[in-house]
Amino acid sequence: MSGAGEGLDYDSLKLDRTGQAEAFDSIGDRYDEAFPHKEGQVGSADWLLERLSPGARVLDLGCGTGLPTARQLADGGCAVVGVDLSAAMVALARHNVPEGEFHRADIADLRPGGPLDLGGFDAVAAFFSLLMLPRAEIPLALTMIHGLLRPGGVLALSMVEADVDDFAIPFLGSTIRVTGYLRDGLREVVEAAGFTIEGESSYTYAPESSDVPPEEQIFLRCTRLD
Ligand SMILES: C[S@@+](CC[C@H](N)C(=O)[O-])C[C@H]1O[C@@H](n2cnc3c(N)ncnc32)[C@H](O)[C@@H]1O
Repeated sequence: MSGAGEGLDYDSLKLDRTGQAEAFDSIGDRYDEAFPHKEGQVGSADWLLERLSPGARVLDLGCGTGLPTARQLADGGCAVVGVDLSAAMVALARHNVPEGEFHRADIADLRPGGPLDLGGFDAVAAFFSLLMLPRAEIPLALTMIHGLLRPGGVLALSMVEADVDDFAIPFLGSTIRVTGYLRDGLREVVEAAGFTIEGESSYTYAPESSDVPPEEQIFLRCTRLD
């Protein structure tokens, strides 16, 4: 599993985002209604906050509506920068977290030499956003996150446990493509990108909407090694 994506770089990947932003544009704040229980996510963001000083720069990658994470981090005294592919999600995040800075952009736009240079960060939150990328790209995204963090910086990551790659699923009236790993595979790919895993938790989650299947959510709390 850790070899997935080995030898690839962004230039050799043909990125296909067809339908991904459109799906979240049409989902809008129904996303928060379908996923109202966020204990794992809130706990992981608390873990970030415990390690950060007031004014710390935090990147919320695939920020969605800004709830709960960007809101929680801003309330905790952080300078929050959010990035999301969906214009509707960025508009909701700007409304929910007016003091945050939000960009409608692709995760891949933050790659070294890419079109969006946001500078460095003390922490990154990536809750259920890397799962929107194909498996070949996820090691590149993790390496990119490593490069955006200062040494000793922290990453809170969540994924859904599933052995699928760029797999189309129905989701709140749209179709999205998702990728997952089994637990050990996820740990391997995160460690291979230069992180040490300080903590892990998982939750069996039954969303409120019957249009989203039950899922096993994995949260990893990680520190950037030098
Ligand atoms: C499952 S939602 C998670 C939202 C939020 N992080 C949360 O946990 O509440 C995934 C988010 O990632 C965004 N997204 C999907 N592909 C992306 C990409 N390539 N670059 C940036 N954002 C992306 C979607 O628009 C959506 O808002």
